[in-house]
Amino acid sequence: MATPTRLIVRGLAAFALATTVSPLRGQSAVASPNGRNKVTIAVTEGRLYYSLERDRRQLILPSLLGFEFRGATALREGLRVTDTVRQSHDEWWTQPWGEVTRVHDHYNELAVGVVETAPPNRRLTVRVRAFDDGVGFRYEFPAQPGLTAFEISNELTEFALADNARAWWIPSNWPRKDRSEELYSSGPVSTLDSVQTPLTMETRDGRTFMVIHEANLERYARMFLAGPRMEGRTLRAALAPLADGIKVRGKAPFVTPWRTIQLADRATDLAPSLLGLNLNPPNALPSTDWIHPMKYVGIWWGMHINTMTWSSGPIHGATTANAKRYIDFAAANGLGGVLVEGWNTGWDGDWIANRDAFSFTKSYPDYDLPAVAAYAKQKGVRLIVHNETSGGIENYERQMDTAFAMYRSLGLDAIKSGYVTDLISSGDSHYSQTMVEHYRRVIELAARDGIMLDVHEPMHDTGERRTYPNMMSREGARGQEYNAWSGDGGNPPEHESILFFTRMLAGPMDFTPGIFDLMMQRSTGKPRRLDEPRVRTTLAKQLALYVVLYSPLQMAADLPENYAAQPAFQFIRDVAVDWDTTRVLDGRIGDYVAVARRERGGQSWYVGAITDESARTLDIPLSFLTPGKQYVAEIYADGPGANWFDNPLPVIIMRRTVTSASQLHIAMAPGGGQAIRIRPVR
Ligand code: NOJ
Repeated sequence: MATPTRLIVRGLAAFALATTVSPLRGQSAVASPNGRNKVTIAVTEGRLYYSLERDRRQLILPSLLGFEFRGATALREGLRVTDTVRQSHDEWWTQPWGEVTRVHDHYNELAVGVVETAPPNRRLTVRVRAFDDGVGFRYEFPAQPGLTAFEISNELTEFALADNARAWWIPSNWPRKDRSEELYSSGPVSTLDSVQTPLTMETRDGRTFMVIHEANLERYARMFLAGPRMEGRTLRAALAPLADGIKVRGKAPFVTPWRTIQLADRATDLAPSLLGLNLNPPNALPSTDWIHPMKYVGIWWGMHINTMTWSSGPIHGATTANAKRYIDFAAANGLGGVLVEGWNTGWDGDWIANRDAFSFTKSYPDYDLPAVAAYAKQKGVRLIVHNETSGGIENYERQMDTAFAMYRSLGLDAIKSGYVTDLISSGDSHYSQTMVEHYRRVIELAARDGIMLDVHEPMHDTGERRTYPNMMSREGARGQEYNAWSGDGGNPPEHESILFFTRMLAGPMDFTPGIFDLMMQRSTGKPRRLDEPRVRTTLAKQLALYVVLYSPLQMAADLPENYAAQPAFQFIRDVAVDWDTTRVLDGRIGDYVAVARRERGGQSWYVGAITDESARTLDIPLSFLTPGKQYVAEIYADGPGANWFDNPLPVIIMRRTVTSASQLHIAMAPGGGQAIRIRPVR
């Protein structure tokens, strides 16, 4: 049960006392509460720069700040500092759901005002917040006569890295401009071309991990990073364009999203990543009691492996009878939700080209939405409505209001939406300001109507869930579906152990774990050849993904019949989806990771460990358990001879009594993993 967001303010006195306005200086700095991270803002020869150090070591060298505009001169030269304002903030707040319950929002802030010394004498403020886990800065244009409406053609923010750090990246310019669904590569920053954030980097000496991303992306365009292309180590902000090439249209007063640089000494300290949440406004919803993390099944995988269709016809997936069967299955197994895709008209023919044909209220004749909704309600299961837009934004916006109201009237409170498309209908980039504003409108409208959201082909996550906790999960990376049909055979075994340290630092992902028929033999009657697309993990690793890849909406993605007579399905029944505490126990980016999480409102812990193509053993002390208490560990491990390549199914299930003094020996097969439930002995 989600609890309403509570704000607990501790350092109120500190707020007031810490605000100081300093005399003008060319350079000022702000350090994190622990003193380790320091950002310096300087005006040198009329240009504005920031730099970053940790433990007195330069991580980001002086890097340019500023803008270019269409129809106005660039804001980058002839600047002088007008004032600096400092304040500090120390507060704990509670998440209605999440990877952790309590979040510490503790920072020192510096706001530096600058003005152009020549007309039009425009003013700009750079606000910096230094936290112990990283820093954020944003631009603010105060209301002023010299700057009213503007068109940003280029944001000049640079990230001049001091070290040729190793980066784990996905491209932003190839092969598709509308997706984050690429496989990760890694290499020195100097070799990057154009990449997406979060961009995770490790300095060559292994001392520091850095993640560049953004927070509170609103009324702006998504930021990519243009790489130095062998010409140095400076990454530059590159905003997704509108159809006419402009990046952002705005009007002062105006604030940009935060540019964030998360910092950690170890890769395992990067998660859970809370910096971006702290840089978003607090919960805006009057009540969050109606928001429910849950597991769900869906009429979904069948379409991806071609045993069902979205469109009408003999194997149409979304029939009333089929939906009821899934609802029965969910109810019998304690899974909270059922997703039904392909229920609404518009799927026949080329549903990407015919995007304006989608109706969001009209069902196919073989699907009785009110009857299915009533049946779900009677069984205590939430029906998740699917809204694929194919990027037909105008078509969706025309119908949204009526459709959401209709869902509400049927008692439906969850939508999975989708934006499959190469170009959105307006011709703007998938990640342009138009889309940022669209996705926000959907979140706000859904919040108004009491609807939880799971968005595929989303805007990347910049922490919106703090303000709108109905924005629960999204895709925004290569998920499980690629294992059904991708031309490159599926996700390689290392994929999820990179995701954990990259994409997942932005926020929850609807990866859709839990495929048991890994070779797809039971589902299709014909096993996939080893070179065909298929799931390249062991079965135990599929279980471990429920703990490793955080999502408050967690799918049991396989066909219900594939869970029949499978003892390992018990783990999916049991595993929690909402967490009080998260600890990353061990890991190396792209190689392996082990995570322990304690369920919200309970005493059980769940551990998930995954490895890449290499077999691996880990010895994990259970010191996170409450001392003096006895627990039972229910262990789902790779069975004898298991490996992702040609023998992924063997799982052994064991039980052991453990205490906080015990150690678990986790042995993982190539492409394997282990999932463990640790529950108190009653
Ligand atoms: C892509 C989504 O990721 C997938 O989950 C969905 O089934 C299809 N689009 C159709 O909407």
